Amino acid sequence: MGKILDVREMVPKDRHSTIFDTFRNLEPGGSFVLVNDHEPKPLLYQFQAEHDGEFEWWPLEQGPQAWRVRIVKRETAGTDRTITDYLQTDHRRLDGIMESFQGALRAERWEEASSDFREFVLGLRRHIRIEEEILFPVFEEKTGMIDAGPTFVMKMEHKEINELLDRILSSTDGHDAGAASEAAGALINILMDHNMKEEHILYPESDAFITEAERAQIIKKAQAA
Ligand SMILES: [Fe+2]
Ligand SMILES: [Fe+2]
Repeated sequence: MGKILDVREMVPKDRHSTIFDTFRNLEPGGSFVLVNDHEPKPLLYQFQAEHDGEFEWWPLEQGPQAWRVRIVKRETAGTDRTITDYLQTDHRRLDGIMESFQGALRAERWEEASSDFREFVLGLRRHIRIEEEILFPVFEEKTGMIDAGPTFVMKMEHKEINELLDRILSSTDGHDAGAASEAAGALINILMDHNMKEEHILYPESDAFITEAERAQIIKKAQAA
């Protein structure tokens, strides 16, 4: 699916320029998957410095042997981005991977199902980490709502989501299509409702409580998660 740029065999000094050239040549909305042999954090910081607001950075694999990141050229670039826009875009992206996983599962293409699901788990656990470690503490501090507020409910649902992810992983690894698709159905049901509450209540409220500069900082930290 799409372009892959594997820089592992490339001379280190040529890597960054090749990556930035590839990015600049993308059509708006286009993307490529960068494959590297180490955590590409310095590259992310260079992107943030030189192409602030123009790209998406979605890790697909985070070691220990290979690091893969999907780098997208945003259709509408801009640094004045809302938390709602950033996290909603990630919800949609994860929905797409889930759909592809379900297609592979139905056809019992196990290798594809397993690699799709690994990307999904990594992406969703990272998304939850961004919410719980970066966004929710700011929301709780600004609103004073901690134990009975919306973040409390979201964290409980994250626990359920995590348990279902483990169930789907083990049934996919065990090539049990029935159990995997049943657990995937349960997960999709929870996520539909969960994501809707976040997109309609928690994210917009967060955007309302924090300044534009704080939003930009949160998104930068989230990209590095
Ligand atoms: Fe969430
Ligand atoms: Fe979310």
